[in-house]
Amino acid sequence: MIALGCDHGGYDLMQEVIAYLDKNGIAYKNFGCFSSQEAVDYPEYGRAVAKAILSGECEKGILICGTGIGISIAANRYEGIRAALCSDCFSAEATRLHNDANILAMGGRVLGPGLAVKIVDTFLNTEFSGDERHKRRISKIEER
Ligand code: RB5
Repeated sequence: MIALGCDHGGYDLMQEVIAYLDKNGIAYKNFGCFSSQEAVDYPEYGRAVAKAILSGECEKGILICGTGIGISIAANRYEGIRAALCSDCFSAEATRLHNDANILAMGGRVLGPGLAVKIVDTFLNTEFSGDERHKRRISKIEER
């Protein structure tokens, strides 16, 4: 199950992502928002998706705001969340292989729909490498 969240700046691109998920039979839970017309606050959607992953309800998430920056910062405040802001397929692949990222963040005002959908496809279809060095580095992210 994929958790989805966006603000008004990410709403239009999220509709493209939803069309991709529907076409490929990928299950998702949409935490909103549900319109591009009303300005909303991106931290609320970052939080909802982060909590859905941490509770085990969803395995991965996709977050979109205007830049992808605010919503990824918000999600990354939650321990255990590794939200990666990606604007290219190389990064989307690398963040799964190396960081075991559990959220993909994108900028709805940054990316066109064709590239964004390829980034989503790459992110969802790349497994974590499981390499010891990457596990070690990921565990150090949570050290205080
Ligand atoms: C909303 O106007 C915009 O600030 C938001 O979508 C995002 O880009 C924040 O990082």
